Amino acid sequence: MEFAQDAQPVPAPDEVLVKVEAFAPNRGETFLLEAPKPGLLPGKDVAGLVVQAAADGSGPPAGTRVVGHPPMGGWAEYATVPTHSIAVLPDEVTAVQAAALPLAGITALRLLRAAGAVTGRRLLLTGASGGVGHYLTEIAAAAGAEVTAVTATAERGARLRELGAVAIVHDVGAAEGPFDVVLESTGGGAPAAALARLVPGGTLIWFGQAGRTPATVDFFDLLAGPENAVIRHFHYAGAPYGPDLATLVRLVAGGRLHPEIGRRADWSRTAEILIDLRERRIRGKAVLTIGAPR
Ligand SMILES: NC(=O)c1ccc[n+]([C@@H]2O[C@H](COP(=O)([O-])OP(=O)(O)OC[C@H]3O[C@@H](n4cnc5c(N)ncnc54)[C@H](OP(=O)(O)O)[C@@H]3O)[C@@H](O)[C@H]2O)c1
Repeated sequence: MEFAQDAQPVPAPDEVLVKVEAFAPNRGETFLLEAPKPGLLPGKDVAGLVVQAAADGSGPPAGTRVVGHPPMGGWAEYATVPTHSIAVLPDEVTAVQAAALPLAGITALRLLRAAGAVTGRRLLLTGASGGVGHYLTEIAAAAGAEVTAVTATAERGARLRELGAVAIVHDVGAAEGPFDVVLESTGGGAPAAALARLVPGGTLIWFGQAGRTPATVDFFDLLAGPENAVIRHFHYAGAPYGPDLATLVRLVAGGRLHPEIGRRADWSRTAEILIDLRERRIRGKAVLTIGAPR
């Protein structure tokens, strides 16, 4: 990776200009860098200070601390963010915590809405030790779900247990079940193994392929059960993101959500951190800082 200076971004009338104090890369973004399209400016998760309010009068004034989910350009000193996709930060939420929230946290909230009521239901979660997985575990367990988490190591499982998981396994095949809901994001053989552990009429939501091997499912296997399984695809995207960001910030401020930050480093170490994220060496979120924010 090469560093180069880019021009200061110019906000549209409905955007604020944010001086970025912390930003967080996501696993999916690291893959975009393997064959970058011309003009690619990655970065969707930022926290910092509004230095220029939106010209159309929407959004907070200059001087406000915010977290934002811009469509691009967040791995930078200054980022433009639509006012519909920011939330104001109270003093008790640090920029480092806030930067860890947007994509992974919004995905977790929206996935759980897609899953329907989880209270008292058995939920299987693959890729559980990642950014999305920690949020899903804590929020679903707090809502009364019985969460079984799939993660590579016992050490990663220990934190997921503290966040409310009732069982930790290192392979879907070792999960006891049966499960009402499966949230699957690793691909390969995991969806088929998870389907075999669904209750009749249970739901598997597929939302990612962290293992980078396409999911393989033999639909004839479903004749042996579960009956009437529902398989659905999920994608988190859809502005506005501000209301979900505000929910996440409120949960963190109230001590009910704990962003799991496996790595914090100065932005100058971005290239190294991206490799570690891609190579599965970081638990939870990685957050890069500019200057010395809280
Ligand atoms: N559909 C959507 O809207 C949406 C939105 C956000 C994210 N996603 C996807 O959801 C997944 C999770 O995102 P994230 O940001 O939380 O990623 P992440 O932080 O990198 O977490 C992914 C987790 O999956 C596990 N994993 C990695 N490689 C694996 C492999 N080869 N086989 C099995 N497990 C593996 C790792 O846990 P262990 O090493 O502990 O097993 C890792 O912690 C990604 O696939 C991402 O692309 C989808």
